Amino acid sequence: MDFSLTEEQQLIQQAARDFAQNDLFPEVIERDEEQRFPKEEVRKMGELGFLGMMVDPKYGGSGLDTLSYVLVMEELSKVDASSSVIVSVNNSLVCWGLETYGTEEQKEKYLTKLSTGEIIGAFCLSEPEAGSDATSQKTTALDKGDHYVINGTKNWITNGSSAEVYLVIAQTDKDKRHKGINALIVEKGAEGFEIGPKENKLGIRGSDTHSLIFNDVKVPKENRIGEDGFGFKFAMKTLAGGRIGIAAQALGIAAGAYELALKYSKERKAFGTEISNHQAIAFKLADMHTQIEAARHLVYKAAWDKDNGNNYDLSGAMAKLYASQVAMETTVEAVQIHGGNGFVKDYHVERLMRDAKITQIYEGTSEIQKIVISRSILKG
Ligand code: CAA
Repeated sequence: MDFSLTEEQQLIQQAARDFAQNDLFPEVIERDEEQRFPKEEVRKMGELGFLGMMVDPKYGGSGLDTLSYVLVMEELSKVDASSSVIVSVNNSLVCWGLETYGTEEQKEKYLTKLSTGEIIGAFCLSEPEAGSDATSQKTTALDKGDHYVINGTKNWITNGSSAEVYLVIAQTDKDKRHKGINALIVEKGAEGFEIGPKENKLGIRGSDTHSLIFNDVKVPKENRIGEDGFGFKFAMKTLAGGRIGIAAQALGIAAGAYELALKYSKERKAFGTEISNHQAIAFKLADMHTQIEAARHLVYKAAWDKDNGNNYDLSGAMAKLYASQVAMETTVEAVQIHGGNGFVKDYHVERLMRDAKITQIYEGTSEIQKIVISRSILKG
């Protein structure tokens, strides 16, 4: 067992840390307040290779392992989870899905641009009545011979208005239930494809979340990913890796809040000494540090499973379940350690606390992770 990072992984981690401090940090509060999408920052992340990290260089990607991706997610999320979710969705849900299951033509046409950040993508599974219960797709993609016609609405779509390419999951044959679902590539600007209003969110307010409306949208057959009826499996397989990315995001949010709380506790004085000298604060820091380290081990292990060809449904779900819980608990404690200042935007921890909540919801709520985990352990 080797817990050390390779030299290459350390360099990537440092590059992400530097980028987060120099480029994401300066306007992170303004972006959150104004719900401003980090357009310029996304462009730079594309240049750094953060948007197609695991993609083969022949399709413009960085050709790195999942652990490197996790390290980048962790560092970016310490500072700005609105930016890191863009990285996560583009890498795990869009590029990985296309590279693993797409045709050569789809990869040439879409993946090469997505992996360099020339364009970004969105993954469209959730619906007003199909969130956790993802097999209950109401959006239809009817087979019309050489094309499909999509009708319906998708909800809470990350990169909703900023994406150029949308992977849309929809029901083709209702009688076949989840085996009659397809995943289709839809381009922005397709006739009948409308982007709904932007959601006004509690956290990750810099990210761009929309509903999407499809009214008789024609999609050519060559835009289907995989065999007819593969769409639900595609979504599940893709989300299994996505959950590792969100687990890393949760880990980063927790670690970012902890680092701020640690620093503050050594500077802020009360009752004649730095508050870190009070056991009430020191013990909070001890708990935070321990929980974050435990979460880190789960997240890195899930990445290692994926890199080593092991099944990662269980390890990814456990990593997301636990890291998101740690993110929530740690950020609440970081606000508490900051006292009155913790409630003020300038100190960042209140934003991290708001951002933490979504990690217990998207890419499968904590309750869904428990379904995945319990089914896996019970089947033996
Ligand atoms: N890999 C491959 N196949 C899988 C799978 C996996 N990890 N998980 C399930 N499947 C397959 C099953 O084998 C089954 O196929 P067969 O009948 O051929 O065996 C099929 O999928 C249906 O599975 P279940 O019978 O288990 O379906 P279910 O309805 O009982 O439960 C669920 C499935 C796990 C609860 C699933 O609905 C789920 O994961 N729900 C949560 C959805 C989710 O994560 N949404 C996130 C939205 S995306 C997002 O948030 C992105 C963003 O913008 C940030």
